[in-house]
Amino acid sequence: MNVVIHYNSSKEDAKRLCAELADYEVNSWLVKADFENSKEYNNLISIGLKIAGSLDILVNNASVFLPGRLKQMSFEDLRLHMQVNAWVPLVLSREFARLVKRGKIINLLDARIKGYDFLHVPYILSKHLLSILTKMMALEFAPDVTVNGIAPGLILPPPGKDKRYLEKLMKTVPLKRHGNPDDIANAVIYLLKNDFITGQIINVDGGLHLKGYGNGPNPDK
Ligand SMILES: NC(=O)c1ccc[n+]([C@@H]2O[C@H](COP(=O)([O-])OP(=O)(O)OC[C@H]3O[C@@H](n4cnc5c(N)ncnc54)[C@H](OP(=O)(O)O)[C@@H]3O)[C@@H](O)[C@H]2O)c1
Repeated sequence: MNVVIHYNSSKEDAKRLCAELADYEVNSWLVKADFENSKEYNNLISIGLKIAGSLDILVNNASVFLPGRLKQMSFEDLRLHMQVNAWVPLVLSREFARLVKRGKIINLLDARIKGYDFLHVPYILSKHLLSILTKMMALEFAPDVTVNGIAPGLILPPPGKDKRYLEKLMKTVPLKRHGNPDDIANAVIYLLKNDFITGQIINVDGGLHLKGYGNGPNPDK
């Protein structure tokens, strides 16, 4: 697979990824788009098609993850998360279905949708929306495009936190450890290799979803 890499602010990281992929003789192209600006995301799929020649897979991975509790949440907090985490994946997915005709879409969700995350309310609401959209799009875009979701659990520390954050929360995971990006990548590859799965959401979370994350306030304590 060759890769069209989307970035917004992390240009240097994106360039490093391009260089790494070149070592594997994988072609890659960088495309910048701010998902808060419709002029930048509306034609992202057609730009990708133009520079790569064809597209087969869309991975909706970009996400905003800011703290926010029900009592303080503003409409602006909600709009930001809904736009970047759910609206833009919908826009990109329907453009993909329209222009590419046959392919596979993977949406990155969050295992916390099996419970309530009282500390990140706008974020978790946006992932709920993307989860429902995953199933609706699977039906709407069938039979030519499959749409599935991966719901990661405890994988990487959020911005501003280090591995102590993961170590503290590991005890809440049934498998008593945190996952790593390879666990997510393997689940993505599994879905991409299978042509007969659509509308499915796979939790890659060491069993955390079985406990219904955060069924009370302060779930991280
Ligand atoms: N990390 C975990 O443990 C975990 C757990 C559950 C679910 N997930 C989900 O898995 C996915 C990947 O997680 P992650 O931790 O790797 O995500 P992340 O680093 O928090 O965010 C991924 C990327 O989203 C992009 N982004 C944010 N705002 C944007 C905007 N306005 N326009 C365009 N791009 C924007 C950023 O690109 P730039 O850096 O280029 O600005 C950022 O690098 C996400 O969907 C996340 O919700 C992750």
